[in-house]
This record gives sequence, C-alpha cells and structure tokens, in this order.
Amino acid sequence: TALYCVFGNPVAHSRSPDIHHAFAAQQGDDLRYEKREAPLGDFAGAVNALRADGGLGANVTVPFKEQAYQLCGAVTERADLAGAVNTLWWEGDQLNGDNTDGAGLVTDIRENLGWAIQGKRVLVLGAGGAVRGVMGPLLAEKPTLVRVANRTREKAEILARQFMDGSNSPVLGSGLENLMGQFDLVINAISAGLHGDMPDLPDGLLAEGAVAYDMVYGSEPTPFMRWAQQQGAAATADGLGMLVEQAAEAFALWRGWRPDTAPVMAMMRR
Ligand code: ATR
Repeated sequence: TALYCVFGNPVAHSRSPDIHHAFAAQQGDDLRYEKREAPLGDFAGAVNALRADGGLGANVTVPFKEQAYQLCGAVTERADLAGAVNTLWWEGDQLNGDNTDGAGLVTDIRENLGWAIQGKRVLVLGAGGAVRGVMGPLLAEKPTLVRVANRTREKAEILARQFMDGSNSPVLGSGLENLMGQFDLVINAISAGLHGDMPDLPDGLLAEGAVAYDMVYGSEPTPFMRWAQQQGAAATADGLGMLVEQAAEAFALWRGWRPDTAPVMAMMRR
C-alpha cells in the first residue's frame, strides 16, 4: 500500500483524504492517505516520521507551506516563485517540493467554470500566503492586469513588485480603501472569508459581466460570493474546485496518472 498524508495544524477538518481515496479508486490504485497533525514546533520531525513509516509523499497545508519549502532539496519553479510548497515527494533520499495551488485555481476557473483569464482585468483580495501561491500561474494566463488589494497596503505593494518582475501583465498593489477601477474577474483570498464579514469595499468594482471566485469553500455561498452577487456579478464560485484540482495535480505527480476530477467534485458537493 502506497502511503501519503496531509500535514497541517489543525488538520482534522481536511477533506484531502476523501479526495485522494476517490481518485485512487478510479483505477484500483492501492493507496492510503492519512491526516497527520504536525507539531507547530517540529514540522521536520513529522516529515521524517512519515518517511520512516514508508511514506512516499505528502500534501502540506496551513501553517507549514513555507517551512515545507525550506525543507526541500529541490523545488519546481512555480514553488520557488511562491516561496511555498503544498506537495512533497521523495526521489531516493531527496525531498522534492511543488506548489499545485495556482494550477488548481487556474484549471478550475478556465476548464471547469469556463471563465476566461486571458485579456481580463483581475482583482485579487488579500496578499497572504494563499495569494503568493497562485500569482505565478495566474499571470501566466496573460490577464490585462492584476490588482492586488490588501488591508495592509504595504504587503500588497511588496507582493505586486515581486511578481511584476518577469510578468507581461502589470501587477499593482493597493489598500482596500480607495480601491478604484473596474474588474472582470475578482478572486478572494482574504482568510476571514468563511465566517467573518467581508471588509467594506466600494461599489462599482465589478465590470459588466464580471465573475467572482472565492478561494474559500463552504456548504453555502460565502460572504464574498453574496457580496459579489449584490454587486451584480454574472457568476460566482467557491474554492471547492480549486481544492480538488490542486489535489489532482499532486496525485498525478505522485502516481503518474491523472484522475478524473468531475465525479470527485460531484461527490464532494453531496
Ligand atoms: P492565507 O494563507 O490564507 O493567505 P495569511 O497569509 O495569514 O493566510 O493571509 C491572510 C490574508 O487575509 C491577508 O491578506 C490579511 O490581510 P493583512 O495582510 O492586512 O493581515 C487578510 N485578512 C485577514 N483577516 C482580514 C480582515 N478581517 N479584513 C481584511 N483582510 C483580512
């Protein structure tokens, strides 16, 4: 049996085992995927323990993605850009890392939802680790521009400057107040999103036909999705599709075949 896990703290709520077991079942792949709560002070110890148990790889979630990046002997270019790793696997004794979050977001938006990114004006709310993880793949889709707006304006400006390097699209940083312009695609990565209220945003940010994506997911429309609907969004989506797609990307890396995400998405919605 091939052993994998997700590391997080807390991790009890994670739905990754359900997703990966459903993927494996599609081809009768013999795979066990556990939840492992890593101690806040000893992520490396938890990774070593997985290896000692014969583990082949792992996913990494909050708050360990940056530590996972540091621990790797080699990382992909997109993980390097993000400074964070959500997928680990060993090659001999070398620990490798990738970040599949951005690819998961882009695949869900483009393929599953059928929303265009190329040529669109994109607004990203938030400037934390989640945003850092997806900016590279998002910019690779050639949006007209990306504006990153964050409560702490300086963080948005620093992040924008970093990703402006080597990008064909302008990347701009700003605060949440005095936010101006009109956008075709709004992506929410403010982590208060699930339970908390939306921060106050000016009216009129959504252009005609604009769509809104929340990286958070829930059993009902999130506060951000409700805000976007009130602002006239043509369509809204939560982040369940991103979760399943980033998992599929990791699974393909580990197992060498790509699972079908549509039935797993449907299962997760039930
Ligand atoms: P994540 O991994 O989810 O990105 P994070 O790195 O802690 O977590 O980032 C949290 C993001 O949510 C930040 O952009 C944060 O804004 P600040 O940089 O100003 O802290 C944003 N955030 C959290 N709570 C918020 C709130 N109540 N209002 C506005 N933004 C909030």
